[in-house]
Amino acid sequence: SDSDPLQDFCVGDLKASPSINGFPCKSSVSASDFFFSGLGGPLNTSNANGVSVAPANVLTFPGLNTLGLSMNNVEFAPGGVNPPHSHPRATEAGIVIEGSVFVGFLTTNNTLFSKVIQAGEMFVVPRGLVHFQWNVGKVKARLITSFNSQLPGSAVLPSTLFGSNPTIPNAVLTKTFRTDDVTVNKLKSKFAV
Ligand code: GLV
Ligand code: MN
Repeated sequence: SDSDPLQDFCVGDLKASPSINGFPCKSSVSASDFFFSGLGGPLNTSNANGVSVAPANVLTFPGLNTLGLSMNNVEFAPGGVNPPHSHPRATEAGIVIEGSVFVGFLTTNNTLFSKVIQAGEMFVVPRGLVHFQWNVGKVKARLITSFNSQLPGSAVLPSTLFGSNPTIPNAVLTKTFRTDDVTVNKLKSKFAV
């Protein structure tokens, strides 16, 4: 859903400030600007969520600048969860490379559409909708995801709500979640950055 390019390519000059809608073009380019080796893994998934994401977006692969697409390698430990998040600038399509993954997204009416899918199977998440994945297998799982934006952005609900800087006032969060300060402080302590 990014704008259409006005030239064959425009490899991003990340050292320049993004004063246009994206990055200015690098003046001299070579073949290496159009290749990226960062999606092969394996990633370290020893963290609280049991998940790790390696992005190939305009910031890691500047050759994508102005081309309107990007990809991620997403790896899961057994039981790992990619927590509920949304991409403000892109629809997501993904394929399971290995393992067995519960994939779900929520509509703006709070309907959950979900399915367990296996290697070779694909899913789609409409632009901006909240979604998550959960490795329901006993072994590692791996997805390759793709986006129709060079920089889809990701609003990760738990860290957006409980790990912001500065933090959201407790008065807002206790009322929002119909709970007390103890619970909100506990959640904030888990997501503090
Ligand atoms: C998965 O949801 C991803 O954003 O890569
Ligand atoms: Mn996603």
